[in-house]
Amino acid sequence: MITNTKEDLKNIRLMEISQQRRNRIDDTYWPLIHLMPPVGWMNDPNGLCQFEGIHHVFFQYSPYDAQGADKYWGHYETKDFVHYRYTGVFLSPDSDEDKDGVYSGSVCVSDGQMNIFYTGNVKEDGDHDYVLSGRGANTILVTSIDGVISTKKKTVIPTGGYPDRLSCHVRDPKVWMEDGRYYMVLGGRTTDDKGLVMLYESSNRREWSFVQYIETQDKFGYMWECPDLFEMDGKKYLSFSPQGVESQEFIYQNTYQSGYCPCEEGLKVTEDSFVEWDMGFDFYAPQTYVDEKGRRILIGWMGVPDAAYDHDPCIEKGWQHMLTLPRQLSYDSSTNRIRQWPVEELEALRDGELIADNASDQKHDKKKDLRWSNLPEAYEILIHDISDEDCHIEFDQDLMLEFDSATRVLKLRYKDYGYGRDERKAILKEGLKDLRIYVDKCCLEIYINQGNYVMTSKYFYSDRNRRNLEMNMNSRECLLYSIRPLEIEED
Ligand code: FRU
Repeated sequence: MITNTKEDLKNIRLMEISQQRRNRIDDTYWPLIHLMPPVGWMNDPNGLCQFEGIHHVFFQYSPYDAQGADKYWGHYETKDFVHYRYTGVFLSPDSDEDKDGVYSGSVCVSDGQMNIFYTGNVKEDGDHDYVLSGRGANTILVTSIDGVISTKKKTVIPTGGYPDRLSCHVRDPKVWMEDGRYYMVLGGRTTDDKGLVMLYESSNRREWSFVQYIETQDKFGYMWECPDLFEMDGKKYLSFSPQGVESQEFIYQNTYQSGYCPCEEGLKVTEDSFVEWDMGFDFYAPQTYVDEKGRRILIGWMGVPDAAYDHDPCIEKGWQHMLTLPRQLSYDSSTNRIRQWPVEELEALRDGELIADNASDQKHDKKKDLRWSNLPEAYEILIHDISDEDCHIEFDQDLMLEFDSATRVLKLRYKDYGYGRDERKAILKEGLKDLRIYVDKCCLEIYINQGNYVMTSKYFYSDRNRRNLEMNMNSRECLLYSIRPLEIEED
C-alpha cells in the first residue's frame, strides 16, 4: 500500500512541477488541446460538474507510472474550456477502504458543495480470483468546495452491502438529484458474469437503498463500467461501458465498448438499441454533466483498457492517455441518435485560416483536390455539404479517412504512425454529409454529420514540422484553422 503521507504528496508535486507543460514544448507528442496530467497515466474523467461558475474536471491518475498502477484523482478547473488551472492530486489511496485505488466516481452539487462519490478499491492478499473473492469495493463520500481540499472520507455503502447477486466487481457511482431525492447508478458484474447496473436512492446522500437492476434480458458483456443515467428531450438514456461484448466487422471493434441505450418503461434496456458513442480506436468510460447553461456535456477517456495497441511512444516519455474535448450533447430526431459536438467555447482557439497550396477560392470553389503543406501542430477542419460520392482525406501521407458511397462505409486506416492501430469502420446510413476534425499532436477527433458519429483516435505522426494534408472531395465549403494551445496554469 502506498502511504500517501504529506511527504509522499509533496514528492508527487515536485515530480509534476519538473514535468510541467511548459517544459514539454519539445515533446513530440505532448497534446496542445487535450487534457492530461503533467506526468504519468490518466484514465476516466471523474466528478464532472460546474459549481459556482467553475467547471471541474477530475480524472483517474497514476502519477508514478505511465502504465497506470495505483489510482488517484487529479483535478483541473476551467471557466471557459480554454483557460485551465491544474491543481494536482485531489484524492489519494490513503485509507483501509480505498487502499488499492481511488477509483472512478462523480460529483452531485447540492447544499452549496460538491458531494463526491467514488469507489474505494481494496485487494486482499491471498489466493483469490478477485472476481468472487479477494476484492472490496466501498462506495465513499467526501465533500469539497474547491476541488483542492476534501472532507474526511465516509463509506456510504461498504463492500458486502450490495445484493448477493453481485460479484466483487461493483464500481463507479454516478449520483444526481431528481425531485429532491438523490439517485445513484453503480456498474457491476453478477456472480454468473453478467454485466448490469444497480439503481439506488437516498434522501440524505449517506443512507442508500437499492431500487432495481437495469439490465438487458440476455447477457450483453460480463461487466458494465462507468454507468450514467440521464434525460434528454424528455427521454431517459443509460450510458455504460460494457466489457466482454464480441467484436463484429462494423461494430464493437475495440477491446471494450462504450455507448448508450434509450430506457423504456421501468428502465428497461435492450442490446439492439445500444449505440456506440465513438467509432475510433481510443475512447472509453465517458461521463456527462449538466452545466449552468443547461447544456449536457460529455467528456471521455481517450484510451481503452487492455487494448492490443498499447505501445504508445509517449510511454517512454513518462506519460500516457488524455481526455477528449468537451462535447455538448443534443438529440437528433431525424436519425434518432445523440449528437456530440465540441462545446462552442472551443471556437476561441481558432487562430487564422489556412489556405490550401492549390486553392484559388477554397471556400466556394467546388474543388475536388486540395493540398496543404507545412500545417501547424494543431488544426481544425470544417467541411460542409459533401457530395455523395467516393472521397478521402489523407493526413501526412499516413492516415487515411475514406468514404465509399456505394457501401456507405467510412474507414479510418493507418500506415506507420498508429502504433498497432490498423483500421476502424463505421456505416453511415445517411451517407457522409459534413466533417469537423480536430487534429492535435498525438490524436484526432472526427465529428461526422453534425456529430451523429464520432471517431476518436491517437495518431503519433512524428515529423512535427512537416504536417500536411490532401483531400479528394467535393463540398460546398472547406475551411481549415490553425488552433492555439489551451492555456494551462499549473500551481
Ligand atoms: C474504467 C475503470 C473503472 C474504474 C477505473 C479504475 O476505465 O476500470 O471501472 O473505476 O477505471 O481506474
